[in-house]
Amino acid sequence: MERIGVYTSGGDSPGMNAAIRAVVRTAIYHGVEVYGIYRGYAGMIRGEFVQLHARSVSNILQRGGTILKTARSEEFKKKEWRAKAAQKLRKRGIEGLIAIGGDGTFRGAMELYEEHGIPVVGIPGTIDNDLYGTDFTIGYDTAINTAMQAIDKIRDTASSHDRLFYVEVMGRDSGFIALDVGLASGAEYIAIPETETNIDELKSLLRSFRKDKSSAIIVVAEGDEQGGAFTLAKKVKDAAGYEYRVGVLGHVQRGGSPTARDRLLASKLGHAAVTTLLSGASNVMVGEVNGSIVLTPLRETWERRKTIDTSLLELARILSM
Ligand code: F6P
Repeated sequence: MERIGVYTSGGDSPGMNAAIRAVVRTAIYHGVEVYGIYRGYAGMIRGEFVQLHARSVSNILQRGGTILKTARSEEFKKKEWRAKAAQKLRKRGIEGLIAIGGDGTFRGAMELYEEHGIPVVGIPGTIDNDLYGTDFTIGYDTAINTAMQAIDKIRDTASSHDRLFYVEVMGRDSGFIALDVGLASGAEYIAIPETETNIDELKSLLRSFRKDKSSAIIVVAEGDEQGGAFTLAKKVKDAAGYEYRVGVLGHVQRGGSPTARDRLLASKLGHAAVTTLLSGASNVMVGEVNGSIVLTPLRETWERRKTIDTSLLELARILSM
């Protein structure tokens, strides 16, 4: 393989730049040319390719976002646009791809491989941590630290006013962020889509909180089956009458300088992705499980469900007594 392409796609996550840097420099070390593909699949379709050199990725290790930009491409879901993208890649002599993103990114990569035989290796980059085949995804650690710091600040004002707060964190279909952030910030209750959020349970919890606690924080995953923080807060208010405030942390969780853990993970996985691609493997994601690099077929990364440790909900309840 003499020339490969690298792209980021879907929601950006802190540490994507560190992964791009690792990919570019590892490939060059092995004598392979690297092209950056801008705006994920949207740019692939349009042939937005730029050759990257070792110096093109200087000084990006510590930067949030992605220098390659990203997009959620609706066009790429259609076969004819994938054919167009494959044609552009071939024309530029790009023989293999490194895809950095989440499940949507990997679905596109797998289809491109199956329909056009373009070898691809995925790197898990999403704050949601919802991919099977890796203990953590790149960006997750930064996101939970950002959210935890925000909730610490909310706790200051909540306890000054003796208030109840509902804080919504990201996690479209999963409660990884909510669970870890809730535990780390001493939340009184954590609502996640993987377990039933019980309004009665919340009612009785809040009754006891009103007796002797100055504040209560309920962390709500945006994907919780009861709805987001606003919906849940209203349901509890209608049932039990507690006044509340709501904070939605939103996209602040996706930005910022990556933590050391995310930079380390991105550097290791970026390197592993290139060596995997050059070894002839394809259609797999590189991940880290128990400290070792593992390969997982792309399809399994979204079809198999990564287990969430729901016993931590009980722990959060005990510790926030
Ligand atoms: O997948 C990452 C994520 O941040 C989710 O947690 C969130 O639901 C979604 O992206 C938001 O996407 P967008 O930025 O396109 O609104």
